Amino acid sequence: MKEGLGSSQRPYRTRTYYNHALTTTFICLILLSFIYLHSVRSPRNGHLARVSNARLSARCKYLRTPAGPPPSFYKRTQSDRYVDGTRPVLLRNAKIWTSRANGTEVIHGDLLLDKGILKAEGRVPRAMLIGMPDVETVELHGAWVTPGLVDLHSHIGVAPMPRHSGTTDSNSHRMPILPFLRSIDGLNTHDASYELSISGGVTTAQVLPGSANNIGGQAFVIKLRPTAEKSSLSKVLEPPFTLNQSLQDRDFDFSVPPRWRHMKHACGENPDRLYSQTRMDAAWNFRHAYDEARKVKEAQDEFCAAVEQSRAVASTEFPESPLELESLVDVLRGRVKLSIHCYEAVDLDMIVRLSNEFKFPVASFHHAGETYLVPDLLKSAWGGAPSIALFAANARKKREAYRNSEFAPKVLADHGIPVVMKSDHPVLNSRYLLYEAQLAHFYGLDEATALMSVTSTPASAAGLGHRVGTIAKGYDADIVIWDSHPLSLGATPRQVFIDGIAQISEPHHLSKPRTSQEPPHTPDFSREAADAVKHQGTPPLEAKRVIHSGVVKFIGVRSLYVQDKGNIQTLFDYELRDERLNPSQISNWTVFVRDGALECYTPARQESACAHVTEIQPEVVIDLDGGSLSPGITSFGSPLGLVEIRLEPSTNDGQVYDPLQQQVSGLLGGADAAPVRASDGLQLGGRNTLLAYRGGVTQAITAPMGSGFLLGVSVSFSTGAKHSLERGAIIQHENALHVALNRRIGASVSTQIAALRRKLFGSSVDADGAAWARIREGEIPLVVHVDNADIMATLLKLKDEYESATGRTLLVTFSDAIEAHLLAEDIARSNISVILTARKPFPFDWDTRRILPGAPLSAETALSTLLEKNVNVAVGVVDEFDARHARFDLAWAQLDSNGAIKKENAIALVTSNLHRALGLTDLGSDLVAYKGGDMFSMESKIVAVVSRRRKVIDMF
Ligand SMILES: *[C@@H]1O[C@H](CO)[C@@H](O)[C@H](O)[C@H]1NC(C)=O
Ligand SMILES: *[C@@H]1O[C@H](CO)[C@@H](O)[C@H](O)[C@H]1NC(C)=O
Ligand SMILES: *[C@@H]1O[C@H](CO)[C@@H](O)[C@H](O)[C@H]1NC(C)=O
Ligand SMILES: *[C@@H]1O[C@H](CO)[C@@H](O)[C@H](O)[C@H]1NC(C)=O
Repeated sequence: MKEGLGSSQRPYRTRTYYNHALTTTFICLILLSFIYLHSVRSPRNGHLARVSNARLSARCKYLRTPAGPPPSFYKRTQSDRYVDGTRPVLLRNAKIWTSRANGTEVIHGDLLLDKGILKAEGRVPRAMLIGMPDVETVELHGAWVTPGLVDLHSHIGVAPMPRHSGTTDSNSHRMPILPFLRSIDGLNTHDASYELSISGGVTTAQVLPGSANNIGGQAFVIKLRPTAEKSSLSKVLEPPFTLNQSLQDRDFDFSVPPRWRHMKHACGENPDRLYSQTRMDAAWNFRHAYDEARKVKEAQDEFCAAVEQSRAVASTEFPESPLELESLVDVLRGRVKLSIHCYEAVDLDMIVRLSNEFKFPVASFHHAGETYLVPDLLKSAWGGAPSIALFAANARKKREAYRNSEFAPKVLADHGIPVVMKSDHPVLNSRYLLYEAQLAHFYGLDEATALMSVTSTPASAAGLGHRVGTIAKGYDADIVIWDSHPLSLGATPRQVFIDGIAQISEPHHLSKPRTSQEPPHTPDFSREAADAVKHQGTPPLEAKRVIHSGVVKFIGVRSLYVQDKGNIQTLFDYELRDERLNPSQISNWTVFVRDGALECYTPARQESACAHVTEIQPEVVIDLDGGSLSPGITSFGSPLGLVEIRLEPSTNDGQVYDPLQQQVSGLLGGADAAPVRASDGLQLGGRNTLLAYRGGVTQAITAPMGSGFLLGVSVSFSTGAKHSLERGAIIQHENALHVALNRRIGASVSTQIAALRRKLFGSSVDADGAAWARIREGEIPLVVHVDNADIMATLLKLKDEYESATGRTLLVTFSDAIEAHLLAEDIARSNISVILTARKPFPFDWDTRRILPGAPLSAETALSTLLEKNVNVAVGVVDEFDARHARFDLAWAQLDSNGAIKKENAIALVTSNLHRALGLTDLGSDLVAYKGGDMFSMESKIVAVVSRRRKVIDMF
């Protein structure tokens, strides 16, 4: 996903629009007041009449009835969502994580699903099965089972995929206060995401309006499964009675308590930017709206007090809330689960004061980057601390997210505040919601709380904890059967049930290693977490200790991988069980490093084999405790090194010119100006870059940033360097020339191809710089950022055309390349390298719609297909915040390949293969030291980097 959803997705409107918006706002506010004055007649001023109407008293009593399920709900034998003809299912021999007992309960046993609900868990009484001749029995052989995942923050359906003409239905741009809009009115049932998200185990999602407005509208909670009705409404779980104004019906049953409603609020950058308003304006928007709602509520309460005390009232008609305000009146009555998008302490403080001024509870704060810094403030919200819905690591994309911390889930949980992990789909593809919980667990959130953060905690925050998010008798039959422990990396559903209906018709299964049936013993990050709080989210990231020369001794090493002459080699690996050595010898090796380079390695008991270094007193001895040394990862695909805060232009290199769509300054040489070099805009020492470095990414190759056809020349650099003049900081100033071909660029695809053809064949364009000349000579690769297979096909023809006309060979690499699997053979024949920057593919738009999703939806992935055809494949990453987790992505790719990708191949995807694809000719690499496990493990922690180029050892 390239952009946040919210209003950041499209360029902000011009001032003309703003003036228009302001006028509209003003008119609407006047209109609101008018409607209000006419709909609420004060009991004291009107015509007096005695009212003793049973219906009216019921209506008045109903105002005080708390929202939630009626008592009869707990006795239900069939779900209101039950689909006639659904067969009962008996799941046998499961390891069931129920989410009960604060997430600590695991039951070994069976589960019976019938009539859309869970009939029994653990031991299913035989008697129960007697009346079910058609029961389908599934043997699970001890597989892990959890409740279906609940995503508290999603725009699924309202921002449907593939995206069309840059618009979504998630944000109105009309005015800041829109409590009357409803996400269900834009809920598209054809979103390609539903099937994908279900395949990741998500069964329920709260569909929120976007964050472009202070009050963006009402949200609805849906089940993701397709329905026979095919309607938006049929997806909604417990649709509130207010959805169709049925409260005004003559026969409305006031003895049934109201169902929970949901609403979105937002503060900070998104609404403020759209309406060119300040935080003070935003606060007033809220206060004014709530004050209007308060007046309506008080008038109703006074009316009802009079009715109930048989006093005189002005009218026999209940003073209905105006449609524009009725949802806010319900907020004041405590019947709405509010989801508030708020990052910074300043915004959280405003909302907490608002909640106390108008006395309403906040169900959840979302994104909520700074909540971990102000736990006491959260606890002082009216009605107690909200749940906090977070990303695990998606941070620093905008200024207000700069202090986000990967340790926030753990810190908040330590303060007893409920933690939710969410997707903000499609910002993060909710198919990988569980990965957010896995990352939170990696960074210190305990196992039970991590699993609850995507099941029962969001279910409760949405007021639906009585039927989803937990496995217990009487709950909705929403169940996920996993192929491994849900907190182990790459855990994939084998089957998903929603309302008792199996969702994946022909699931493809992966066979997982036995170790993945247990949760990982994640490393201790308590020092780092305390540091994050102490430094208010910006703890220093530089190495704790830097060793410039001498010998460093690593003990307790289990595996050593190196990059040598462009290939990855296993020097030893305990897991591969070298037959020549006995097991006790190979589980514990010693590795000596000298002046930043690997010097000698030997089984611990045979150190004499390294006599020439053992004589030298080591500067430091580092115990890796069964860990590993392996090549530093190279990151490619994000603007690492060119941006600090992606959406904050003042911190970035900026966008390059595009000669295809813009007039280029004569100072640059006009239309045939030489391509820009990323090397000239490089900025080092940024937080994403340093976090990547601490995550084992020791180098990066970055192309200039642009959204047009011509991007420019990429640079390769050391992520650990402080500035570009430091020794070893720049690896190669000019790696490859990058162009982009897609349907998002204003010019037609055929025009883009024409431009490329002219650049390749053109003879009179010597002025366009060395880069194009080197492309024509086949000296550096032409990297084409392209997703669509049809465009790739044209490029393959163009390459042939050029090569037969000139007798030269073009070096070509396809980057991004979501649809490359469709042309795998032709790509292999043309000797074109492919860099998959979206290893986890998503049908974002027309160009990317033909994805190969992988298990459980398909046996193959784009990666496995390309590897099988012997294409030189590499893996990249799109988001700079995510570069640091490349190692987990590789581990995942290995697991997804069912063993086809060995460790050496996996490392090559982010080292040697990538270097070949991007023209990095300086082969060899740094070494990263992992403690407690290897680079693919969520049990290991990076403790040092041995930098060959910078000739230092950085210790963290
Ligand atoms: C869950 O945790 C809370 C807070 O620590 C505790 O009060 C409660 O008793 C626990 N419930 C169960 C069922 O263990
Ligand atoms: C209004 O919505 C409620 C809740 O979904 C439903 O029970 C009721 O039948 C609906 N009324 C009408 C008239 O559609
Ligand atoms: C590995 O060998 C070293 C000696 O080089 C020793 O200090 C260490 O305790 C051993 N580790 C294990 C896990 O046996
Ligand atoms: C294939 O491309 C690579 C560069 O990616 C190059 O080194 C190699 O020589 C090419 N092979 C052939 C047969 O053209």
